Amino acid sequence: MDFNDVRLRYESLRDEIDNAIGSVLSGGRYILGPLVETFEDEFARYCGAARGIGVGSGTDALKIGLRAIGVRPGDAVLVPAVSAAATGMSVAAMGARPVFVDISLDDFNILPEQCLERKTSRTKAVIPVHLYGMPARLKEIGKAGLPILEDAAQAHGSDASWGRCGSFGVAAAFSFYPTKNLATYGDGGILVTSDATIAEASRLLRNYGQRENYSSKILGENSRLDELHAAILRLNLRRLDEWNGRRRAIAEKYREAFRELPIGLQAQTGKSNAHLFVVTTAHRDRLRSHLDECGVPTFTHYPVPLHRQKAFAEFRPARCPNADLLCSRVLSLPMHAFLSDADVDRVIETVHEFFKRKV
Ligand SMILES: Cc1ncc(COP(=O)(O)O)c(C=O)c1O
Repeated sequence: MDFNDVRLRYESLRDEIDNAIGSVLSGGRYILGPLVETFEDEFARYCGAARGIGVGSGTDALKIGLRAIGVRPGDAVLVPAVSAAATGMSVAAMGARPVFVDISLDDFNILPEQCLERKTSRTKAVIPVHLYGMPARLKEIGKAGLPILEDAAQAHGSDASWGRCGSFGVAAAFSFYPTKNLATYGDGGILVTSDATIAEASRLLRNYGQRENYSSKILGENSRLDELHAAILRLNLRRLDEWNGRRRAIAEKYREAFRELPIGLQAQTGKSNAHLFVVTTAHRDRLRSHLDECGVPTFTHYPVPLHRQKAFAEFRPARCPNADLLCSRVLSLPMHAFLSDADVDRVIETVHEFFKRKV
């Protein structure tokens, strides 16, 4: 059984992907070409945003997004204490200061009320993460009065009461890292926004600050999506809803099967894309060993919260007790669109077996 379907997705579209790669290679246009532009439009529309700016990774989408919305070196930016390192690093990498905010033990996302508490006059933005694909409570976070840059790296196609993830903030960053629900076979990312000024600034920032070759208006960088990845992403985007549908059906089956067990599940704030299926238990390490012995692959997302990472020590992070507790208990079960019903049943039985034996 595979933990994710990186390879299986390719197998299912092998001929289409191989042909698309062949046409790009023989076409002679490799970076920021017509396929990138078409994909940017298609994905922005899918998210309910007006524009998309393809970049080199999800981390770059966050960094460029921060600069485009006016965050400057020395400013403070609120980020949740539980996320991939990239969320905090994107802030630090552009010279700003990440301020870690605790998470909710219900939905595992940034605590809206603590955004208000940890905001100061130096705070210029907040980056809520839709962790594991579950929408963060953006309407409540909006009460802090800060520009919201959504970290939607795990939330392609997730929906909330306020709309699709990526459509609410002033901008939203997505990653196309191979394990994401919408992915390519390398690094890639996109910033989506309905704000024409942010879009224009981001286009300059990703390409040496220039619109036309050899005429740089601002200091930019090299972070561009290329044609090969855009060709692959266009094919995968057509399957995204179908694949998310299968993931959601599996998530529903897991939820139903674990109802009677003494394990915690992420509260449903909307319709997650089921990027990851995470359970929480005080017996995490023993459950993980049991699953491992039975051939069921698992991961921990994430074992160490951001405010405890050595890399962020210089920012003197404040206490985030919920994040500490969550990270000591989370376990991600196999979740992808190509799990068979028999695989899902085996995961469920193996988890049940552990709790039966433990009692
Ligand atoms: C929540 C979150 N934010 C940001 C990123 C960064 O994306 P990338 O790896 O494409 O730079 C990731 C991906 O790992 C992520 O999961």
